[in-house]
Amino acid sequence: MPENPNPPAAHNSGQAAGLRSVARRKFLIRSAGVLGAAVLTCAGLGFVATRRPRLNLPEPISCGGSTEMNGKILIAYATRCGSTAEVADAIGKVFCERGAAVDVLPLKEVRSLDGYAGFVLGSAIRFGAWLPEAAQFVEQNLARLKQAPTAFFTVHLNNTADDEASKTARLAYLEPIRKLVPPAAEAFFAGVGDFSKVNFLERLMAKMVKSPEGDFRDWQKIRGWAEEIQQTAFAPA
Ligand SMILES: Cc1cc2nc3c(=O)[nH]c(=O)nc-3n(C[C@H](O)[C@H](O)[C@H](O)COP(=O)(O)O)c2cc1C
Repeated sequence: MPENPNPPAAHNSGQAAGLRSVARRKFLIRSAGVLGAAVLTCAGLGFVATRRPRLNLPEPISCGGSTEMNGKILIAYATRCGSTAEVADAIGKVFCERGAAVDVLPLKEVRSLDGYAGFVLGSAIRFGAWLPEAAQFVEQNLARLKQAPTAFFTVHLNNTADDEASKTARLAYLEPIRKLVPPAAEAFFAGVGDFSKVNFLERLMAKMVKSPEGDFRDWQKIRGWAEEIQQTAFAPA
């Protein structure tokens, strides 16, 4: 029987449907590929944008023995880029040079407040506030911090001038902390703006809050404050 050169319409439409389904499958595969690539790119960019360079903190300091009878002071800090750690280190060294017993540690490494005769706590400022772990530390240790002299230092870059507006703005950084524990002393130190130590997003945000670049720490002022509080708020009984 000769082959029908014109297959029935039903056969034609079956072929067309088959072609359509192949095209749909190809479209779906391509779309999935494009979507997957977009997700990977976003994840990669997100990772790069939030990746922070490695942080080298100063070696923890411990001087003057370890018994609670010698009035040991804990100097603890929260930092993102290390400048607050170096300020804490300088304060600790002044205390040690003057014969005080001191531990200097990142707040994250403080396991217990038992035995300390006083506390000097410091934090960097981000977006107008102490770092969350520093504020949390104060909240979680309220009773203990109120029992002993507690001083606070704040490291920041905006509002460092001597005018009233600047002064009011920097004093406001500590207000939520000051409300929790009335400090025996407090200080505000200009810090460091080093954009190579912050991630892409933070760099953008630092520029938004007009954070300047450079090392603005006044070591004489920092050491001067340490000497002053060592002789006053933390003077041995
Ligand atoms: C993302 C970002 C936000 C900041 N926000 C403020 C701010 O609101 N006020 C301020 O005075 N300084 C601000 N600073 C400056 C830091 O407080 C300053 O660089 C400080 O020295 C950082 O301390 P650290 O090196 O211990 O992390 C900001 C810095 C960054 C990178």
